[in-house]
Amino acid sequence: MCVYPFESVDCFSGWLGSIGYLGVFWARSVASVEVVGGDPPVVFVRWRRGRRWRAAYIYLCLDGVENCLEGVGRGPGEGVAVLVVTRDVLPSGLYDRWSKVFIYSVDGGFLQPNGEVVVEVYPPGEAEPLRMVEAVQRSSWGFYVSPPRESYVLIAKMGGDPVGSAYYNPVSSNVDYGIHVARPFWRRRIGTRLLVEAARLARRLGKNYLSVVRVLRGVRPTRSDVRAISFYRANNPLDEANVYRLVASP
Ligand SMILES: CC(C)(COP(=O)(O)OP(=O)(O)OC[C@H]1O[C@@H](n2cnc3c(N)ncnc32)[C@H](O)[C@@H]1OP(=O)(O)O)[C@@H](O)C(=O)NCCC(=O)NCCS
Repeated sequence: MCVYPFESVDCFSGWLGSIGYLGVFWARSVASVEVVGGDPPVVFVRWRRGRRWRAAYIYLCLDGVENCLEGVGRGPGEGVAVLVVTRDVLPSGLYDRWSKVFIYSVDGGFLQPNGEVVVEVYPPGEAEPLRMVEAVQRSSWGFYVSPPRESYVLIAKMGGDPVGSAYYNPVSSNVDYGIHVARPFWRRRIGTRLLVEAARLARRLGKNYLSVVRVLRGVRPTRSDVRAISFYRANNPLDEANVYRLVASP
C-alpha cells in the first residue's frame, strides 16, 4: 500500500485514477493511465471527457525542476496538455493553470485544534447535513458545491449552529473542495479541528494519508488562495507540491 501519492510513479498513477471526480484541470475522469518515462517519471493520461484537453503528459519533477524541465516536450499534439508536478515554484510565464496539493499523515502533526466545537460525521449519501454545509460554504467562499457520492460529510457546530464543514472521500482519501469555516468564525482553529477530524476518520478507515487540493483562481495567488495555502501549510503537511499546466510556447 502506498504511504502517500508522491512516493512512486505507481502510487501517483493510482491516486490520479481515484481523484478524477474533482473535475479540475489535472484531475478528471480517467480513461487510461500509462507510465511512459522513468527519468524523470512521466505519466500519459487520457481523460474520458474534455473539449480542449483530452489527454496529458504529466512530468513528476519532485526532485526539482532544473534538470527535469529540460526533457519536457512542448506542443506535444492537439488536445494534449503538458503538466508538471513539482515542489518548486515555477516562474509565472511558464504556465496557465496552477494547483496546490497538500498531503498529511493521518498520525497527526496538526496544530492544536479548537476544542469548543462539536464535529458531527455523516456517512456518504445522507441529505440531512447538506443544508448546513451549504450555509457554511456560502459564508466561507461564497458558493456551494455538493459532495461527491462516496464522501462523508463533517460538520463543526458551535452552540448547535453549523460553523464549519468538510467532505472526506474514502476512495481517494481526499478532503474534497477543502476545509470551510463560516467567515465570522475564522482564526479560531475550527478549520484545524476539521482537518484533525478528517484525518481521524481516514485513519479509522485504514488510510495512511489525507490529501487536499487547492486550484488557484489564476496564475498568481489571490488573497483567498494565500489564506487557504497559509492554513494548509501551517498544519504541517507531510508534503506540498504544485501542479502546473505549461503554456505551449512561453
Ligand atoms: C482556510 C480556512 C478553512 C481556515 O480556517 P480557520 O478556522 O480560520 O483556520 P485556523 O484558525 O484553524 O488556522 C490555523 C492556522 O492557519 C493559518 N491561517 C489561517 N487563516 C489564515 C489567514 N487568513 N492568514 C494567514 N494564515 C492563516 C495560521 O497559521 C493559523 O494558525 P494561528 O491560529 O496560530 O494563527 C478558512 O479561512 C476558510 O474557510 N476560507 C474560505 C474557504 C476556503 O477557501 N477553503 C479552502 C478550500 S481549498
